[in-house]
Amino acid sequence: MSKLLTWRDEWSLHIDVLDKDHRALIERLSDICVRFCPEASAGRSGDAMALLDALSQLGDEMRQHLQREEEFMRAFDYEGVGEHQSEHALLLAEFTALLREWRAEGLHVFDESIQCILSDWLLAHILGADREFADVYFRLCGKDVSNDQEPRALRQLQSSYRSGLRSTLAK
Ligand SMILES: [Fe+2]
Repeated sequence: MSKLLTWRDEWSLHIDVLDKDHRALIERLSDICVRFCPEASAGRSGDAMALLDALSQLGDEMRQHLQREEEFMRAFDYEGVGEHQSEHALLLAEFTALLREWRAEGLHVFDESIQCILSDWLLAHILGADREFADVYFRLCGKDVSNDQEPRALRQLQSSYRSGLRSTLAK
């Protein structure tokens, strides 16, 4: 069975409305994995478009989440909202390019390499700029929750995702 991406509490921003969306996106990706991983696909036929439809729906849900997130940031006059919006636009453009490629190939199995690409894509968002926003958010609220609770290992993970994302976007 393919390795499923499941929610970890240390990924929480401690901002309920955003955590709820992030958790739902991870569950959606995990559900796609269960339904379309190579093991589940054995012997299946007649649903060549189903995986592409499910991926397209994931992209729509991500787009809606990013819009909600930007509205949330604007409501707090977050000064980094412009940079965050640019990063969101790049994430969506990256997803659109991947989906276009997968449609052209007639993708119908969600194999391990594609699982990794989309896990990295989603985690780059959750563990990257969103955590920077959370730090500012809690400073504005007079609390400093995220830094105190953020283990060193998680910070290393974030910086590795960030550099991976930067090199992907530089191509
Ligand atoms: Fe987010």
